[in-house]
This record gives sequence, structure tokens and C-alpha cells, in this order.
Amino acid sequence: MRRLPLQWSTERQEFFPYWNLQENSTPTLEDLWVQMTTLNSAWNLFCARCHTTNLDILARDENHTTAVTQWTDEGIACESCHGPGSQHVNYFSTNYVNRVVAFANSQLRGQPVAYIVHPHKLEKGESLSVCARCHGPDISRATTEIYREYEPGYSQEGRINDLSPYFQQFPLEPGRTAPTVEVWADGAPRGIAMIFRSFIESDCYQQSDEPRCFDCHDPHNNSQPRVPGILEPSAVSNQYCLDCHGELAEDTAEHTHHVTGTAGSYCYDCHLPNQIDSIVSGARRFTRTHWMSSLPDPQNSVQFGLENAPNACNECHTDQTPEWAVDVMREWYGPSAVGQTSQPIAAHTLWPTLTLGTGLSTGEMCQ
Ligand code: HEC
Ligand code: HEC
Ligand code: HEC
Ligand code: HEC
Ligand code: HEC
Ligand code: HEC
Ligand code: HEC
Repeated sequence: MRRLPLQWSTERQEFFPYWNLQENSTPTLEDLWVQMTTLNSAWNLFCARCHTTNLDILARDENHTTAVTQWTDEGIACESCHGPGSQHVNYFSTNYVNRVVAFANSQLRGQPVAYIVHPHKLEKGESLSVCARCHGPDISRATTEIYREYEPGYSQEGRINDLSPYFQQFPLEPGRTAPTVEVWADGAPRGIAMIFRSFIESDCYQQSDEPRCFDCHDPHNNSQPRVPGILEPSAVSNQYCLDCHGELAEDTAEHTHHVTGTAGSYCYDCHLPNQIDSIVSGARRFTRTHWMSSLPDPQNSVQFGLENAPNACNECHTDQTPEWAVDVMREWYGPSAVGQTSQPIAAHTLWPTLTLGTGLSTGEMCQ
């Protein structure tokens, strides 16, 4: 089963060339042909592991252009996140005592129930792996198989349950090498594949045990917020941040320098700016970075140009220059508040950069 070089956009109601759109180039017929026939062009191998449930690979050719696979559900069904349910059912339907003991342990001690995964009860890394296996950073050839082998929680076949050792194989840090479509010129996360990466590289995730994807997203209806208001700048989302950053609760207005309750006064406004470039549905739009501990730094926009390194302030203050924002920031937060966060990208890149020769984006090329 080959993937087409074109993707259907539900938003635009038409086909569009995904990779060309991503790198702003015009596709030729030859490009499209190459995209359809080279490494990893088997849909049921390459794409299906994130778009079906319980994918099994039975056979494949060396270039991964053809494969024999099977899966239990099309799309993302319960078992993608909760693991295979049949053992769980067997265990409880065959023994009445198991039921009573498990009920008591789970209700009274909050313990996991046999052979089924409750992502909330898993340890930090395993819990995030539930989402990482599809939203995560499997960007190298070495880790692709590992991600394909993943199964949440308990696995009778001994498949891998914890992907956290691989979360940061190529960390976002000063001087790192990186592909251009995935990061801005100052090193801030840019590509849609960076959503997960930006989250786990945030100090908030690194230095605490708490944050989870499903704090904010309803895992059973992923376009919905977990609680109303948490996916937008609001008192609700502010509270989420303030639960950990309580020291700012008293003097929020002093910290933000914007009138409380107006645009510019919410945590998301400055710390989760719309800097992730999403074109999955064929319409280019920016969604929020998940690098929650990022600080606005208009000095980077001065250095690299606003279009190459956007900053939170000028996202709203479009009639002002980055230089203006730098001056205001210095006045508000002191001289050291700007020019601190640039992470210049090394000229030589370890990762293959996007080339139309293969028609594959960096992530895919590695697989
Ligand atoms: C690593 C997991 C992964 C792989 C591999 C993958 N996808 Fe996806 N795909 C996703 C995720 C996650 C999203 C949602 C992205 C978002 O909204 O951030 C998505 C979104 C999409 C969408 C948009 C759906 C919509 O509702 O607008 C299409 C179409 C799509 N993928 C097709 C493909 C094709 C074709 C391939 C193979 C070439 C592929 N995907 C491989 C994870 C994957
Ligand atoms: C995208 C991943 C995902 C899918 C798919 C999914 N779940 Fe969940 N489910 C979760 C997460 C994450 C939690 C934990 C949420 C929490 O407690 O914060 C959860 C919790 C639950 C709970 C416990 C609820 C509670 O209040 O303790 C049940 C029951 C459940 N899911 C059943 C299902 C069923 C049935 C399906 C299929 C129809 C399904 N889930 C599909 C991720 C998923
Ligand atoms: C088996 C792969 C898979 C797993 C596991 C998975 N996702 Fe997704 N997710 C996708 C794909 C594919 C899409 C895009 C198509 C769609 O919307 O159904 C998506 C879309 C989303 C979206 C975007 C919805 C929108 O409005 O565009 C969010 C948010 C999301 N997932 C959160 C999560 C969270 C949180 C978890 C873990 C509890 C999770 N996902 C686990 C594959 C997965
Ligand atoms: C579960 C706790 C937790 C939550 C929730 C949380 N953070 Fe954090 N955050 C931390 C920890 C721990 C640190 C590192 C120690 C510190 O700087 O306080 C941190 C650091 C930061 C920093 C400082 C970065 C620096 O360079 O000094 C910012 C900014 C930040 N968080 C913003 C946010 C925002 C905005 C939200 C809400 C979207 C949020 N945090 C939610 C725990 C959390
Ligand atoms: C602090 C709350 C918060 C947490 C935690 C969080 N997100 Fe989000 N997420 C958001 C907000 C806000 C948006 C933007 C929603 C909008 O614009 O409507 C978003 C958007 C998304 C989207 C949609 C991107 C698109 O194409 O529009 C995906 C996918 C996503 N998040 C995945 C994740 C994953 C995976 C995790 C865990 C690694 C996660 N989120 C953790 C708040 C959060
Ligand atoms: C108008 C923009 C803006 C808004 C809104 C904003 N911040 Fe900040 N925040 C900053 C800037 C700029 C810094 C860096 C200050 C410095 O370097 O001295 C910062 C620093 C921080 C820090 C680390 C240093 C410290 O002061 O503890 C945390 C934590 C933080 N913000 C959390 C939050 C939370 C939580 C909210 C929402 C209640 C919020 N911020 C709203 C601009 C903002
Ligand atoms: C979400 C949008 C938003 C963000 C992000 C934002 N602001 Fe504002 N800002 C506003 C709004 C709205 C006002 C009030 C406008 C008015 O009264 O003229 C304002 C007012 C101001 C003012 C006073 C009015 C003026 O124009 O003289 C300054 C200065 C300012 N912001 C600077 C900043 C700086 C610096 C940052 C980044 C740290 C920032 N803003 C981030 C929306 C935003």
C-alpha cells in the first residue's frame, strides 16, 4: 500500500502536496513521483503505526516500499493508550476473587488494575510515552523501530513500555544541530513535530513530576479541553500555571505589566506564544508552543529578523518593531531580561536537511 504524495485537506476540501507546502516549494511531477516511490513509501508501514491500532509488521522489503502488515482498528482506538484489553477481561471473568481484590486495591490504594493501563497512574515517563509514541520525537533511524515496538503499560510480549530514554535524543540546547524546518533561527521550536519536544524540554516538565498532556487535553476527545478554558488564555489556564508558580499569584499584574484580565496579561500570551507552524490539515496556521518555560526575547528578532525568529510581544504589538519591544522589556524587567535565550544553530547539521531529492522531511528520511 503506497502513500500518495498528496494529502487531502478536510479544511480546504482539496488535495495538496504536504512536503512541498512545508518547505515552500513548487512540486514538479518528478518530485511527486520520487516522494511516492523512495524509502518508506509503504503507507501501511510508515504511516499506519500512528494512524491505526495494534499494528503488526509481518514482512517488508529493504527499502520499506512494500510491507505486509495487520492491525485491529483503523484510527486511534482505546487500546492505543490503554493496551490490549483481552487479558484484562480474561483475568477478571475467570476468577471472582481477582475482582474483589483488584477493586479494593484500586479504589482504596489507587493501585493499577491488572493488564489494563490507566495513563494517570503510570510514572511520569511511562505516562507521557502513551502520547509520545505518536506525538513524540522519533527522529532517528535508530529509534524508529523502538517507537514501532511500543505498547502502553504492561506487555506480555515484553514490548517496550517506556520511551522516555529516547525523548531527548537530540535535545534543544545551545549549539545543537537541527533541521531548519523544525526550529526558528534562534533555536526556538517551530515544526509541528516539535510540540512534544518543546513540552518535555520545558523546565516545568524537567524539574517537576506533574505536567501531563492530558492536564489540558481531553484524551477521549482530543479537540476538546480537559476543563473549559484551559486551552485558551484565561483565568483557568492562569490557575494551572499558578498552581506551581504560586509566588506570582499575589502580584500577577506587577509581573505582566498588563491590566489583569486583558490580552497580554495571561501566562499563555508571553510563555506559550503561537510559534508552532502547523500545516497538517493543509492550511498554514500557528499554534501554541508547548515550551512552557520559554521567555519572550525580542532581541532574537532584532538579531535574526522578525520573520525568522518571532517573539511573543510583537505577536500582538504588530504595529511596533522588535527594537521597541527590547526597550520596553529592559525598562520592565531590567537589562538582563533580553538577549539571553538565543540558541544559534550550528552551520553543519547532523540531521539531513529537507531536500526535494527525496521529498521526505527530516524525520521521515531517517526512518
Ligand atoms: C509519528 C506518528 C505519525 C506518523 C508516522 C504519521 N502521522 Fe499523520 N499525524 C500524526 C499526528 C500526531 C497528527 C496530528 C498532528 C497535529 O494535529 O499536531 C497527524 C495528522 C495527519 C493528518 C491530518 C489529519 C487531520 O485531521 O487534519 C494526515 C492527513 C496525516 N497525518 C497523514 C499521514 C501520512 C500520509 C503519513 C505517512 C506518510 C503519516 N500521517 C504518518 C502522527 C503521525
Ligand atoms: C489517546 C489516548 C486514549 C484513548 C484512545 C482512550 N483513552 Fe481512556 N484514558 C486516556 C487517559 C490519558 C486517561 C487518564 C485521564 C486522567 O485520569 O487524567 C484515560 C482514562 C480512562 C478511563 C478512566 C476514567 C476515570 O475516570 O478514571 C477509562 C474507563 C477509559 N479511559 C476508557 C477508555 C475507552 C473505553 C476508550 C475507547 C473508547 C479509551 N479510553 C480511549 C487515554 C486514552
Ligand atoms: C496511536 C497514535 C496516537 C496516540 C497514542 C495519541 N495521539 Fe493524539 N493524535 C493522533 C493523530 C493521528 C491525530 C490527528 C488526527 C485526529 O485528530 O484524530 C492526533 C491529534 C491530537 C490532538 C489535536 C486535535 C486537534 O484539535 O487538532 C491532540 C491535542 C492530541 N492528539 C493529544 C493526544 C494526547 C494528549 C495523547 C495521549 C493521551 C495522544 N494524543 C495520543 C495520534 C495519536
Ligand atoms: C507541575 C508544576 C508546574 C506547572 C503546572 C507549570 N510549571 Fe513552570 N516551572 C515549574 C518548575 C519546577 C520550574 C523550574 C523552577 C523554577 O524556575 O521555578 C518552572 C519554570 C518556569 C519558568 C521559568 C523559566 C526560567 O528560565 O526561569 C517559566 C517562565 C514557567 N515555568 C512558566 C510556566 C507557565 C506559563 C505555566 C503554565 C502554562 C507553567 N509554568 C506551569 C513547574 C511548573
Ligand atoms: C498547559 C496546557 C497544555 C498542555 C499540558 C499540553 N497542551 Fe497541547 N495545546 C495547548 C494549547 C493551549 C493548544 C492550542 C489550542 C488552540 O489553539 O485551540 C494546544 C494544542 C495542541 C495540539 C494541536 C496542534 C494543532 O495542530 O493545532 C496538539 C497536537 C497538542 N497540543 C498536543 C499536546 C501534547 C502531545 C502534549 C503533551 C506533550 C500537550 N499538548 C500538552 C495546551 C496544552
Ligand atoms: C507580558 C508578558 C508576560 C506575561 C503575561 C507573563 N509573564 Fe512570566 N515572564 C515574562 C518575562 C519577560 C519574564 C522574564 C523576566 C526576567 O528575565 O527577569 C518572565 C518570567 C517568568 C518566570 C521566571 C522568573 C520569575 O519571575 O519567577 C515565571 C515562573 C513566570 N514568568 C511565570 C508566569 C506565569 C505563571 C504567568 C501567568 C500568571 C506569567 N508568567 C505571565 C513575561 C510575562
Ligand atoms: C496577547 C497580546 C499581547 C501580548 C503577547 C503582549 N501585549 Fe502588550 N498589550 C496588549 C494590549 C491589548 C495592550 C493594551 C493596548 C492599549 O491599551 O493600547 C497592551 C499594552 C502594552 C503596552 C502599553 C501600551 C502602549 O502601547 O504603550 C506596552 C508598553 C506593551 N503592551 C508591551 C508589551 C511587551 C513588551 C510585551 C512582551 C513582553 C507585550 N506587550 C506582550 C497585548 C499584548
